[in-house]
Amino acid sequence: MSLWGGRFNISINQKFKKFNDSLHFDYRLVEQDIISSIAWSKVLTKINVLNEHEQNQLEKELNFLLNKIRVNPEIILSSNAEDVHSWIESQLIKKLGDLGKKLHTGRSRNDQVTTDLKLWCKITIRNLLENIIELKKQLIITAENNQDAIMPGYTHLQHAQPITFAYWCLAYLEMLTRDENRLQDTFKRTDVSPLGCGALAGTAYDIDRTKLAQLLGFKYITNNCLDSVSDRDYVLELISNAAIGMIHLSRFAEDLIFFNSSDLGFIELSDEVTSGSSIMPQKKNPDILELIRGKCGKVQGALVGMMMTLKALPLAYNKDMQEDKEYLFSAIDTWIECINMSVLVLNKLKVNKLRCRESVDQSYINATELADYLVSKDIPFRTAHCITGKIILEAINKNLTLQDLSLNELKKFSPKIEEDIYSTLSLRSCLDKRNAKGGISSLQIAYAIKDAKKSIKK
Ligand code: ARG
Repeated sequence: MSLWGGRFNISINQKFKKFNDSLHFDYRLVEQDIISSIAWSKVLTKINVLNEHEQNQLEKELNFLLNKIRVNPEIILSSNAEDVHSWIESQLIKKLGDLGKKLHTGRSRNDQVTTDLKLWCKITIRNLLENIIELKKQLIITAENNQDAIMPGYTHLQHAQPITFAYWCLAYLEMLTRDENRLQDTFKRTDVSPLGCGALAGTAYDIDRTKLAQLLGFKYITNNCLDSVSDRDYVLELISNAAIGMIHLSRFAEDLIFFNSSDLGFIELSDEVTSGSSIMPQKKNPDILELIRGKCGKVQGALVGMMMTLKALPLAYNKDMQEDKEYLFSAIDTWIECINMSVLVLNKLKVNKLRCRESVDQSYINATELADYLVSKDIPFRTAHCITGKIILEAINKNLTLQDLSLNELKKFSPKIEEDIYSTLSLRSCLDKRNAKGGISSLQIAYAIKDAKKSIKK
């Protein structure tokens, strides 16, 4: 049964109906629609559109539907209702007759759909935050277990300065904290009720919108009904949170794919999360990480798609806006799934500390230390940089590391170099010297892990 048959002489073209219907995706708002409908029935009772008995009957039936769909959400999909709102209304009318036809008094699907979607976003943000915390916990565990795993830090994918695997984990922890903060900000702007705005100009009934918002757990109500039914900023924001979150996960995935490459072998992924090749028996592929990296594109696409859907859209509601849900659901589902997959990856990840160490030992990753050493001997940094460069060239020619060069060889480049250069060049010294807040020293890492654990408990 359609909600708007009265004005039409010819029934709907079935191909157009299929094109127009949104039930197959907006059925996911069914709980929110039932909850907002119960609240609406309560305010209609306050203004005597419904009597207490009628309200009770409606509420009972709505709760019955709620329980029914919780057991089997599929029942909705077998209906040919246009969308979730008409599905619920048709169920009420089937059961309660004319009483079911009263519920939509003073309400429009335009304020209804954005109310439902905001309620869905609020629950989803809470769910996302929980998932992010799980990943943060796993990163902290991995960091704790790998404080002694010294490995190369890269810039331009070239050995730059030594870091530890723990430090790498803590870098991603920071990104996840920013993702959390962004979600909390988005929550604040989503927590504003549009219900009672009607189609676009407000409701003609004497509704207390503040009470209504309180019934639904919204903190505030919107100010302007024309804006309220047209606003999908919260959808854009939530998808953009997902887009940024997925960028982080794609970098996480790419780093691990690189560390896992045959040539580096810094890490080994568990058999549980890798797959083999149909032809090459030796292969153990990091598909899980490649999929996280690959799915990032889909979420960026959802963001651009949603932006373009809203671009230059005249006020107020237009059917274009129905597209919002598929973009949103796809972006959020993908993000949550990739967060969970990242937890799985870290859960049984083995860091090959020996391989990491060998890689660092064979490189000129401590060159900055040598330059700083010369600075400490009163040589201007630019000159020190140049002397160090020349020493490195010599070492490369001799196929040696810096610490392999004898004191006499080093002194040829600067007489100021003494025996203490060798302790300066040691990896521990490279790490522990960087002891300013946020640095790689063991002390700073211990602080960072302690802080991270404290913030998770909060
Ligand atoms: N299914 C619609 C949507 O998701 C509900 C709102 C319909 N409103 C309207 N005036 N046609 O956007």
